Amino acid sequence: MRIFKNKTDLIAYVDTLKSKKKTIGFVPTMGALHQGHASLINTGLSENDITVVSIFVNPTQFDNQEDLVKYPRTLDDDVELLMAISEEKIIVYAPTVEDIYGGNVASASFSFNGLEHEMEGRFREGHFDGVGTVVKRLFEIVRPDKAYFGEKDFQQLMIIKTLVENYDIPVKVIGCKIHRAKDGLAMSSRNARLKSEYREAAPFIYKTLKIAKEQFGTKSAIKVTEWVTQQFAEHNLLDLEYFIIADIKTLKTVKRKSNKKSYRAFIAVYADDIRLIDNIALN
Ligand code: PAJ
Repeated sequence: MRIFKNKTDLIAYVDTLKSKKKTIGFVPTMGALHQGHASLINTGLSENDITVVSIFVNPTQFDNQEDLVKYPRTLDDDVELLMAISEEKIIVYAPTVEDIYGGNVASASFSFNGLEHEMEGRFREGHFDGVGTVVKRLFEIVRPDKAYFGEKDFQQLMIIKTLVENYDIPVKVIGCKIHRAKDGLAMSSRNARLKSEYREAAPFIYKTLKIAKEQFGTKSAIKVTEWVTQQFAEHNLLDLEYFIIADIKTLKTVKRKSNKKSYRAFIAVYADDIRLIDNIALN
């Protein structure tokens, strides 16, 4: 498997692929790869000649220094997982912070048509400027035909679609379904850090989302939100940060339901000091 640690070599290699008219899929990640990432990579492999997987814990998208320091870094295991998928058709780009940022580890400032002010943008200051900065740079280096993002981070997916539109970046952004553990917990690199009692409690998040979806058929968004809030108030291990029912286009909280619009419920929960997010389509 080809593993690139610096952009100069990767850019040259992508040039040769492009000269041979090979199509390039791209899956940006922060590593600690799991089956959720694998599902994106497999979709990439099925639609492109070569799939580039970047592994880079991007410092500028963390608002919490401790989360950045504790973020799992498992490059050897990641490469092993990727080798088992395809040694030939996957290329790894695992750059250093210096390779991406040079001497200036800072975000550019973006406007994503207001999407950046909702949910994760509200609770994690500067997060989407960091995501926008790194993904734009990665797109410039990798120059993929198609790029794959998970609906697990639905707001991120919408923001990347907006980034590509606003900057006219010639890449097709493809959203992929949320991959879950058997007990329903959305796969996440952070799950590995959960102590066992919290890991056992965590499927409560998706269970609650499923009931909320059922309720949304007959009840108002406010009533469903109150019910979810109450469920977490009564839970002794999981702390609700937010539960929001939003229009999938604007990501603004729904005030009055319209059957012409599509909605999704979004949730962020603390299990001990670990922040978990999830979401579900409602209609
Ligand atoms: P990371 O959290 O590693 O996720 C990489 C990609 O995998 C994202 O598109 C994310 O939505 C997707 N993903 C993670 N868990 C998933 C699951 N259970 N099911 C489906 N897809 C899942 O998201 C990032 O990294 C970073 O913000 C990044 C885009 C790489 C920029 O630094």
